[in-house]
Amino acid sequence: MVINTLYRQMCTIMAENPNSDAAFEANQLIEYVLGRKRIELFAADISKADAEKLLEYAKKRKEGYPLQYILGRWQFFDMNLYVGEGVLIPRQDTETVCEAAFEVIEKLDRPKVVDLCSGSGCIALAVKKFCPQAEVAAVEKSDEAFGYLEKNIACTQLSVTAIKADIFEYDKTLMENSVDVIISNPPYIHPDVKKNIQKEVSFEPEMALFAENEGLAFYRYISQNYRRVLKKGGYIVYEYGYDQQQAVRNILTEEGYTIIKEIVDLGGNARGAVAQKLQCTAEF
Ligand SMILES: C[S@@+](CC[C@H](N)C(=O)[O-])C[C@H]1O[C@@H](n2cnc3c(N)ncnc32)[C@H](O)[C@@H]1O
Repeated sequence: MVINTLYRQMCTIMAENPNSDAAFEANQLIEYVLGRKRIELFAADISKADAEKLLEYAKKRKEGYPLQYILGRWQFFDMNLYVGEGVLIPRQDTETVCEAAFEVIEKLDRPKVVDLCSGSGCIALAVKKFCPQAEVAAVEKSDEAFGYLEKNIACTQLSVTAIKADIFEYDKTLMENSVDVIISNPPYIHPDVKKNIQKEVSFEPEMALFAENEGLAFYRYISQNYRRVLKKGGYIVYEYGYDQQQAVRNILTEEGYTIIKEIVDLGGNARGAVAQKLQCTAEF
């Protein structure tokens, strides 16, 4: 069979999944399996084994299995990070949150930055890459995700410290007034919507997705308990769900922070906040 015929078959299979960008994904899969772009191979014959593998991948995509998990790597800024079952796939919206964080971090002198709920390490690695003067720690609890975090630190050769810990305990190990910036894209989906999530997302780890208290448990805990470890003038940068702006605003304000920026994603939705601790713990 020639490659272009197989390409058409793959597109037809994947088009049955409304979440699949079939033509784009077929090209990506062909390049992944054959090591060259489809347009370079157009009328070339494909081996039976490779054709079977590609049709198998197309069927997986039809069932909603994420393209990123098949490819094993995914782009975040200009980094090609390892991903797979057990770790959240880095999203483009998170790049927007990182950019807001860079704006505050680059003004600080050798700041200590802690990325809570680090997953693949995409946020921590981006901070180190674009703000190299920062000292960056990445905290993650899941065994599987932590493996990807370590692998991504190794492959990017960026100096980020990986810490395997539960963020609901980790604050107790930190000194008061010792951290300049906390960034977090924590689990934030309301557990009640479990049955309605997109098929692709259902393959991602539950631990990365769902949080108690209507999805707000992490924002409350971090805002309340990491306040002690933040320096006066230090920042919290959060990513949150498209319908959580007011709830996270309330938490930040109730816990004594001043919101200095609200972050809007590429689709125009409010998806994050930068807040500052302007009063020390005793003053608040
Ligand atoms: C929404 S994902 C974000 C991953 C990554 N920061 C990103 O933006 O792609 C949340 C991450 O928090 C981790 N996590 C969940 N509960 C945790 C806890 N109690 N302590 C530390 N990490 C936790 C999950 O394993 C997952 O990797």
